[in-house]
Amino acid sequence: MNYQEALALTKKYGQEHLLRYYDELSSEEQISLLKEIEALDFSLLSILHSESASSGRGFFEPLGALTVQEISEKRIEYERAGLEVLNREKAAAVLLAGGMGTRLGFDKPKGMYNIGETHDLYIFECLINNLLDVVRVTGHYMYLLIMTSELNHEDTVRFFEEKEYFGYDPDYIRFFVQDTAPCVGYDGKILMEGKGRIAVSPNGNGGWFHSLVKAGLYPLLQEHGVEYLSVFGVDNVCQRINDPAFVGAMKLSGCDVCAKVVQKADPNERVGVLCLEDGRPSIVEYYEMTDDMIHLRDAGGNLLYNYGVILNYLFRLDRLTEIANNRLPLHIVEKKIPFIDDSGILQKPESPNGYKFEYLVLDMIHLLESCLPYEVIREKEFAPIKNRTGIDSVESARTLLKENGVSL
Ligand code: UTP
Repeated sequence: MNYQEALALTKKYGQEHLLRYYDELSSEEQISLLKEIEALDFSLLSILHSESASSGRGFFEPLGALTVQEISEKRIEYERAGLEVLNREKAAAVLLAGGMGTRLGFDKPKGMYNIGETHDLYIFECLINNLLDVVRVTGHYMYLLIMTSELNHEDTVRFFEEKEYFGYDPDYIRFFVQDTAPCVGYDGKILMEGKGRIAVSPNGNGGWFHSLVKAGLYPLLQEHGVEYLSVFGVDNVCQRINDPAFVGAMKLSGCDVCAKVVQKADPNERVGVLCLEDGRPSIVEYYEMTDDMIHLRDAGGNLLYNYGVILNYLFRLDRLTEIANNRLPLHIVEKKIPFIDDSGILQKPESPNGYKFEYLVLDMIHLLESCLPYEVIREKEFAPIKNRTGIDSVESARTLLKENGVSL
């Protein structure tokens, strides 16, 4: 794209300020800015003038889960079915590690955080250890595709290399970079973080499948006949990934996706709850629930909207492929975004000054016909690290890791 084309394009969307400092840039910087403009998805901006993506929800109904009790009664059958999949290397996993981890306040990729007390134990290492538990049982590795962002890609890849992949077979590991989206001020103008650089941020954890395909990794899954693809977040150091019973329950259910869920700690817990929306599986956010929904109970006194998602899903790859071109709702999130002001000086705001755009993995569930909620025991499989201290923190995760026999 040349300057004239970029000017026409930016003018069309009222964003010609992106070229304001063009004449002051070196020729290399000019080329790079034109490339950035060419790569921008300007259509995202239209959402600012339309209804919020998450508004206009349908009719919600509760959805029960395959309970811990039911799973334990059928464990042998589930494990047998799961091992049959895992032994043929028909399952793979995607680690979502493209987030900014702002709440943790750590300036490197979140997975590089060392939660050890008497010896090193990194978040990435915990996840690999959990995967290796499955490898030990099956004697087979599964492909692990790690999604990074432009901001943390190099650090992440170098860290895995330095740590020799924590004992995982590197032939079964691939990295890919997630897409970005422009950051926008409250006035709808795209922000610049330098005279020749547009402010962009990772476009949320829902863009993973698109980014995986763009990175050319889809043929790898196809060539190896992968049938089941799990997706999990970087935060939860206790989660089991593609454990045989989970994979087996998924296979036997015939559902399009299987979601690990935990019972809510209390009715008002701030988690997304798996439910039905207009008869299809969906996730209702805690702030979207009415008081009635929050407190509704069955005859046995159990909450009806009771099963919170923990960002651990197992998808059927064929069904994912079918919905790959469906557009996910786009969420607008208010954030503090560094930007250059009218004098070209970089400002780091103390409070939110604009919007970022995010796709969310949970929205993929609603595109599918059927979902099996699979209950896991919170104390065994849910130790998210979002903050340094308090709820969902390094502290709370350390306690749970120790309770599960992990040496820190
Ligand atoms: P969070 O919603 O906790 O976001 O991500 P975050 O960016 O890690 O943390 P905060 O909100 O800034 O403190 C849940 C999971 O989704 C991944 C994260 O890496 C984490 O595994 N994620 C999030 C991405 O991979 N890409 C994104 O753009 C956002």
